[in-house]
Amino acid sequence: MTTQELQDLLGSMSLEEKVNQMNQLAGGFFAGDVVAMGPLQEMGVPEESVRLTGSVLGALGAETVKKIQKNFLENQPHRIPLLFMLDVINGFKTIFPIPLGQGATFEPELSRRCAQAAAKEAAVSGLHVTFAPMVDLVRDARWGRVMESTGEDPYLNCLFSRAMVEGFQGDDIKEPYRVAACVKHFAGYGAPTAGRDYNTVELSEHTLREFYLPSYRAGVDAGAAMVMTSFNTIDGVPATANRWLMRDVLRGEMGFDGVLISDWAAIEETIYHGLCADRREAARRAAEAGVDIDMMTGIYSEHLCALVREGVVPEALIDEAALRILTLKNKLGLFENPYKDADEEKEKEVILCAAHRELAREAAAKSFVLLKNEGVLPLAKGKKTAFIGPYADNPRMLGSWSFIGSPEDVVTVRQAVSEWDESAVFCEGSPLLGPDVKLEGFMERPAETDGAPAKEKERSAEEMLAEAVAAAAEAETVVLMIGEHYLQSGEATSNANIQIPQIQMELFEKVCEVNEQVVVVLFTGRPLDIRRISEKAKAVLVVWMPGTEGGHAIVDVLSGAVSPTGKLPMSFPYCVGQVPVHYNEYSTGRPHVPGKDKDRFRSKYLDIPNGPLYPFGFGMGYTRFSVSPVETDRTRMTAGECIHVSVRVKNVGDLPGTETVQLYIRDIAASVVRPVRELKQFQKVALAPGEEREVVFTVTNEDLCFLTADGRWESEPGEFEVSAGTDSTTVNSARFVLAE
Ligand code: NOJ
Repeated sequence: MTTQELQDLLGSMSLEEKVNQMNQLAGGFFAGDVVAMGPLQEMGVPEESVRLTGSVLGALGAETVKKIQKNFLENQPHRIPLLFMLDVINGFKTIFPIPLGQGATFEPELSRRCAQAAAKEAAVSGLHVTFAPMVDLVRDARWGRVMESTGEDPYLNCLFSRAMVEGFQGDDIKEPYRVAACVKHFAGYGAPTAGRDYNTVELSEHTLREFYLPSYRAGVDAGAAMVMTSFNTIDGVPATANRWLMRDVLRGEMGFDGVLISDWAAIEETIYHGLCADRREAARRAAEAGVDIDMMTGIYSEHLCALVREGVVPEALIDEAALRILTLKNKLGLFENPYKDADEEKEKEVILCAAHRELAREAAAKSFVLLKNEGVLPLAKGKKTAFIGPYADNPRMLGSWSFIGSPEDVVTVRQAVSEWDESAVFCEGSPLLGPDVKLEGFMERPAETDGAPAKEKERSAEEMLAEAVAAAAEAETVVLMIGEHYLQSGEATSNANIQIPQIQMELFEKVCEVNEQVVVVLFTGRPLDIRRISEKAKAVLVVWMPGTEGGHAIVDVLSGAVSPTGKLPMSFPYCVGQVPVHYNEYSTGRPHVPGKDKDRFRSKYLDIPNGPLYPFGFGMGYTRFSVSPVETDRTRMTAGECIHVSVRVKNVGDLPGTETVQLYIRDIAASVVRPVRELKQFQKVALAPGEEREVVFTVTNEDLCFLTADGRWESEPGEFEVSAGTDSTTVNSARFVLAE
């Protein structure tokens, strides 16, 4: 449709029709052949809202979606198709590593491919929009949703935000196998106070703009069709009713002209925040802020027509929102083909196809981060290895945001090991969770989520432990597969103690008593306090929630077929008392100098180090690299010039490997306090043993810009420190001057 045709369509729609475009209902409202009536009435959703609604959340499958769309169109006065939306986060049916794991790849291009594959599977299943990527910057591992983010660094998050949006959408969402992306949660949702989900966010405007907003902007610049509001307040006003945030910042400054959707029930929550007195006020405020679609409350359908007729809300506001929604439908080509890619035959062909599984395997292996290795990895084949722990043969490693992926499709570690080394032994060792862990609200740990195969459930924890200790005593090397339950991280999973469940720590201790060669393979959605493990284990490999091909990828890395290359996208704290800990903190007036512990009046803890246990950017491979001192081709530049910063990287180990060389910059003095360092660029270098290569970074004015005291994004003349190395603690630095 042309813009004029869309305008004409809008002009011919009744107010009710326009307002209901702004309404979203759950798939359950459209049961089978006809629009369901009984339960809807019970839930207070009038028939008209269902008949005219603009979009659906959670209906999927080509056959179902086509049926719903067909029936719906027969009753829609203007034959305006429904939009079908769902959270397709780290995959649809083929599950890729969780986003935090994808961040660890430091390879946005890989995430672009994962998003593209996920879009293809989702599209043939009838979906038009995915609620991804989640680009919230995260610093507090107590917050369970860190697993949905790519980490603590704005630069890295921007790269992933852009890549994922482009991966889902391609150049044109009308094309086959593309879905519209939704950048979320705007804004600052990743900074809930004390890491408690849905809690208040307290950010200065400076910090919000400097650290948190760039990744949303990157998604918007990449053309994201949709943005989702966040649950939190910004400067005391819930984001979903925050005019300044939505109208001035998102639409005005960022130039976003797509569809803005509320998060689930977030419009209604403005009442519980204490901003709005009732649903009517909530409808008005959210509409005034520019929220186009109400996810799941029915508030718009209930109140907006009356608010317009009473002259409280101008109809132009409704027209604006409805037109944006119609425009999105048009961009997806739904007026010409309301079923888009929904196709039962294609579902069979595309979903879980070999190419997607291969990609899942590659992405998982690249997401793993080796934190420690005292010569035990890679494993030698046929050397009496015992794989012990609740993840040794457990398919539930998809992460909590993959409700379409099924455990039946997952390759477990045991299955993958048996393809590699038939002599390995396996035992579960312990349940994933002891009776002390409560997953409140999660259907009280239904048996099928605890990970244990049915036969194991009949055995006591003591029996499992005894069997594991016996197996460990017999083995040359133990690979202990432990970590969080997949439901311990994700939405509404804040934890004050970020530790491996106690029952598994007991297994760890007992196994270590009988065998010194313990490799820990850690499954987790968040950084954990792993001090004890890091102290005692000979090797630690973080595998996050690796996805459908997790088993194969783990064996690829443990066996040495693939060398680990992942780097932490989020610091692993020394202990929970240190969070939020992140490498790019602002300089203080009393910086602590490590080793000068007698210097009392410094910004430090008395009982623990300032730095995390494992810093941002850290991750080892199976070989070692040396990095030469930083060199610059000049020591002065003007804003129009550039400086080349170089290091020579050499593989000084015995195996081939890939290193990610990271470039950090510090602004020595500026009109506002600057972070102690900021990641500005990185490069991956693959080197054979003995091989050396020069890595050259081109530093331009863009790398030196920041939010100045005047509120402008620009550089200020003066001195800069540039560091290059293999993680964020590198002290390999040089200085240069940005001249006027
Ligand atoms: C609530 C979550 O906060 C959001 O991320 C998600 O997209 C919606 N629910 C829809 O599932």
